[in-house]
Amino acid sequence: MFNQYTKVLEDLKSNSHFRNVRNFEKKDEKFIYFNGEKLINLSSNNYLGFADNQKITEEFLNTVNNSYSFGSASARLLTGTLPVYNELENTICELFGTQKTLIFNSGYHANVGVCSCIAGNGDVIFSDKLNHASIIDGMKLSSGKFFRYPHKNTDALEKLLIRERKNFKNAIIVSETVFSMDGDIADIKRLVELKEKYNCILILDEAHAFGVFGPKGIGVTETLGITDKVDLIIGTFGKSIGSMGAFATGNKILIEYLTNRARSFIFSTALPPINIAFSKWIIENKLPYTYEKRQKMLKLGEKAGSESHIIPIIIGTNKDTVDTCDILFKNGYFTLPIRPPTVPEGTSRLRLSLTTEIDEKELMHAISLAKQKKQ
Ligand SMILES: Cc1ncc(COP(=O)(O)O)c(C=O)c1O
Repeated sequence: MFNQYTKVLEDLKSNSHFRNVRNFEKKDEKFIYFNGEKLINLSSNNYLGFADNQKITEEFLNTVNNSYSFGSASARLLTGTLPVYNELENTICELFGTQKTLIFNSGYHANVGVCSCIAGNGDVIFSDKLNHASIIDGMKLSSGKFFRYPHKNTDALEKLLIRERKNFKNAIIVSETVFSMDGDIADIKRLVELKEKYNCILILDEAHAFGVFGPKGIGVTETLGITDKVDLIIGTFGKSIGSMGAFATGNKILIEYLTNRARSFIFSTALPPINIAFSKWIIENKLPYTYEKRQKMLKLGEKAGSESHIIPIIIGTNKDTVDTCDILFKNGYFTLPIRPPTVPEGTSRLRLSLTTEIDEKELMHAISLAKQKKQ
């Protein structure tokens, strides 16, 4: 009965595709402890160091003084909404200057929920080819049609819009801003132009940019001064905020529609109140004081040849990529091999991600080690 699964697992192993869960001993700030070694963590989304930070955790717990429970025991639409959920949604609205916000249990839930219901029968979604798996999964669940345009190629997107827009009722364009695996940035201004020209809804996933880009930490749309031109922005609390959960924020009608139609929102227990309170506390009390550190981190990313704090080092084959991680490990750096299907075949890579704690010497040393193996 299990033969077919065993065969898949054997194939994965022989192609260096096999994944397993690693058990870490401990994480604190920029370090991760694995197999008895203390390593600099270059594979973290803890961009601002708010997760795994004992001082921050203690300060938060002292501030909230046992006011929040560790379980909500209900979905939001049943008995799962206490004041702190609405307070966090209002905090996001104030930060972004948006009409309404809806919290989801994770970025994955948010994208699957949004992309599965935003396009109905007779509607269409245009999605960047390298958009995150959660966007793709959402589109696959949608009863609308979807097209994937070549990565960041807005000319190709316009050609598609010219050919296809007239065949559908509603049209949606969806893109990440900072791409999770390549660290490059979509041409958001052009996406806004195309959305306006072809009467589309624009959805941007700022998962990796929220908390990092822009004076207030809103994301790339803030840097460009066009937050108000986007119909729906998705962000996660699981990366730079160091917490858990996510949000969709923007147009009031769309948010009310999601509240009524996004199944990943409706049919899941709400996050624990303590977790919602932590996200709110970080956004209100810590994020406003991070601008200089964030700018420094982005400058370092730029020095390493990236448009952001995410630096891809493309190696090629799975085996070479895994071997490169081993070399870095032996030199005190923790990195992970990123392989298909997360990235296209033949582009297996290291995805180095910066945090505000990692300095130039450490980053450049890690990069030079990775490149030695490549040559
Ligand atoms: C672009 C993008 N969107 C959404 C997500 C999912 O967010 P979360 O980890 O909160 O589920 C990720 C996470 O890797 C991501 O990279």
